[in-house]
Amino acid sequence: MISFTRGVPAVEAFPQEELLSCSEKAIKEYGPQIFQYSSSFGFEPLRKFLSEEYGISSDQILLSHGALQILDFIGQCFAGPGSSVLVELPTYDRAIQSLKRSGCSVIGVPLKEDGPEIEAFQKAVRSYKPKLVYLIPDFQNPSGATMSAEKREKIAALAREFDFLIVEDIPYRKLRYRGKDLPQIRSFAPERTITLSSFSKLISPGLRVGLAYGPRELIKRLAFQAEGTYITPSLLPQALVYEFLKEDLMPGQLDRLHTLYAPRLQVMLDTLEEEFSDIGTWVKPEGGFFVGLTLNKEISAPQLLEKAKGAEILLTDGRGFFADGQGDNFLRLPFCALKPEEIKKGIHTLANLIKDM
Ligand SMILES: Cc1ncc(COP(=O)(O)O)c(C=O)c1O
Repeated sequence: MISFTRGVPAVEAFPQEELLSCSEKAIKEYGPQIFQYSSSFGFEPLRKFLSEEYGISSDQILLSHGALQILDFIGQCFAGPGSSVLVELPTYDRAIQSLKRSGCSVIGVPLKEDGPEIEAFQKAVRSYKPKLVYLIPDFQNPSGATMSAEKREKIAALAREFDFLIVEDIPYRKLRYRGKDLPQIRSFAPERTITLSSFSKLISPGLRVGLAYGPRELIKRLAFQAEGTYITPSLLPQALVYEFLKEDLMPGQLDRLHTLYAPRLQVMLDTLEEEFSDIGTWVKPEGGFFVGLTLNKEISAPQLLEKAKGAEILLTDGRGFFADGQGDNFLRLPFCALKPEEIKKGIHTLANLIKDM
């Protein structure tokens, strides 16, 4: 089976040896602290370390079991029944589910290669008066698109004008394989942006270490929600991540990831060019985990999934990424955990199936 389903890291990218020595150091150094109940904000040394990296104070940082759990808290604290949340169309399927669990309406704004369509975004802001806007500005999941600096600034200005909160979710930001970093949305509106990030794609998703940073009062509200949910997050993984950063192992890890993933993205793009140029369009991502393929014609998603499975290709139903239920002609293609030969074979097989249909 060739799986184009989940956006998981390559298993060969896990820094197992380094983590072994980090865990020994973490337990020796912080044993009594990490085996005890503690603050719901998370492991203090890691918060302090990150606060220095981001140039903020450590009470502006919350650590939790992955960014997705914090998004759940954000939905519960700042959305809820009767409210509207704007997202990109398409967006991360689990984010849609998480936000919907709060009882809010999730409204999609069409996404272009350089971010949301600004006119449609403005119109949606005026009609739905959202409390919250959820965006993935860098190498978006699932499309691969990166939002332009102009759009980041524009959305921050709209947030001020129409009084909504921005959640920028940036787990892929450090996985840029070409081009230059763009400013974070928070740099244009720090007083109303919560940034979500994660060590899932950089170190390991199994550790479940994600974070939120932003205005002190908002982070405090999230920490209160966290305390009511689990008292203290699991501290050992956070101490492990702390050791990893303190020992300066991240630059080497990022180099390894870039060396492994950049050629996989290139193979994906080259093979799409060979096979799909007449029947689909896609953004050429500059980093991240995904290429989003839009087919020129709508086909039945369940039928395609079934046929692909018969040909030993696993796909995710594109409709899950669209808050409005569309997406019959959309396929998310993750490339990081597949070897170049698997990517080529998978894309060739998929193209043949689709051409037949
Ligand atoms: C945009 C986005 N946010 C959050 C997550 C989940 O991150 P975590 O493992 O930290 O919960 C993912 C994982 O695929 C993602 O793509």
